[in-house]
Amino acid sequence: MTMTYTEALDILTNQDQAHLLAFWEQLDEAQQQALLMQIEEIDFSEIDRMRVALKQQAEAATAGQGAFEPAPVLTLEEAGDPAVRELGHRALRSGKVGVLLVAGGQGSRLGYDGPKGCYEIGPISKAPLFEIHSRKILALERQYETEVPFYVMTSEANDAPTRAFFELHDYFGLTPARVIFFQQGMWPGLDPDGNLLLDRPDHIFVSPDGHGGILSALRNRGVLEDMADRGLNALFYFQVDNPLVEIADPDFLGQHFANEAEISVKVCAKRDASEGLGMLVTREGHTEIIEYSDLTDAQKAERRPDGQFRLLYGSVAIHIFTFGFLKREADEALPLHVAHKQIPYCDATGAILKPDTPNAYKFEKFIFDVLPDAERSLNVEFARAEEFSPVKNAEGNDSPATTRRDMVAKFARWFDACGVRVPRDADGTPTVKIEIDPCYALNVDDLKAKLPADFKIEGDVLLQA
Ligand code: UTP
Repeated sequence: MTMTYTEALDILTNQDQAHLLAFWEQLDEAQQQALLMQIEEIDFSEIDRMRVALKQQAEAATAGQGAFEPAPVLTLEEAGDPAVRELGHRALRSGKVGVLLVAGGQGSRLGYDGPKGCYEIGPISKAPLFEIHSRKILALERQYETEVPFYVMTSEANDAPTRAFFELHDYFGLTPARVIFFQQGMWPGLDPDGNLLLDRPDHIFVSPDGHGGILSALRNRGVLEDMADRGLNALFYFQVDNPLVEIADPDFLGQHFANEAEISVKVCAKRDASEGLGMLVTREGHTEIIEYSDLTDAQKAERRPDGQFRLLYGSVAIHIFTFGFLKREADEALPLHVAHKQIPYCDATGAILKPDTPNAYKFEKFIFDVLPDAERSLNVEFARAEEFSPVKNAEGNDSPATTRRDMVAKFARWFDACGVRVPRDADGTPTVKIEIDPCYALNVDDLKAKLPADFKIEGDVLLQA
């Protein structure tokens, strides 16, 4: 039973938030019930934490201050040991590896109407991001004759369309029982005085609680039990917007196991001083990620005597977690990150106003804040051109155009390695489009094994299983 109006009014009056019921008399019964349900779900101890976070950020950003060192990184030259890779192969064959995708974000920069995973990115096939990820998992299941459960975190706003999309496309060939959707939590925002906001007379403004919300969601939605039931001991974690990601690649898995890490982080060299990657550092014996916005320009640009950036390696949110660590961390309260945003709100008459400038604050948890809690963690370098080109913006850097370009360039390098001539312009950019379905070849070795000896590229190439 939902709480009553009187109970809600009592709680809100105590919390100085009775304005949330300002339009009560004008609402119909269904709207009143929905509003009561929202009020019931608010955890006011979290709201207190948000107010503290708001106050702290008004005082000063501290994460980039104090003594810290660049974190140690296993470089590309050091990774790639066949014996270590074999540990990865073994883990996959044993069926103890699951895949965790965070897809609950709002994709506001891309401005696409729908879950970002439905965005059609295949340079020729127009395969959506979800299809590319799913086909990689299917390819792993086939190659290793194993089961790879696929956990997909959604949010209230995109859960139903995400499920419907998978259903419509027959789960892209995956076994539906191994595709597990779960919703992350939603959090209210606060105005500068610490008040919750109504974005409609009958609705409190809420937004997803950040990719770090995955921890509480895994616990609250029963996903940890599901993982335990399936006997998983490692979870490969990634974001929806990067079709180049090498899901559960055996080298990375092997390094994770060989180093007995609780969390492993793939890192790459930043593009330039201003690129917005979180930097890997060690402080007081623990590894952590300092957000780009918490570093000064001088810290971002500082160089070593050899000319390289002092803070060079950043995270692109590709991780492996041991199951035990995820389970332990699910009970920890992650720190809150505050963002100043434009949030629609109701004025005193109930009219909805859409501000042009930031007027209020959103709060998010970030997954990388678990790092300092790990007994052992590992940072492994990857080649950026091979594995990272996210769709973040509608245009410019990290946009669909650059992602498709990078996909084609990667497949072109596979053909180079197979000795197939790729037509290119004077800059070395392929003049044809190339796309390879992950179930045809997951990597260059698969392609070498499959490609007919007399294969020639004479126009666009789409290889599908
Ligand atoms: P981003 O930080 O790029 O955010 O998320 P976004 O929502 O996709 O895009 P913008 O910032 O609104 O333009 C990185 C990854 O984390 C997931 C996203 O779905 C994406 O895979 N994410 C982000 C969540 O799952 N939940 C969140 O609350 C936030």
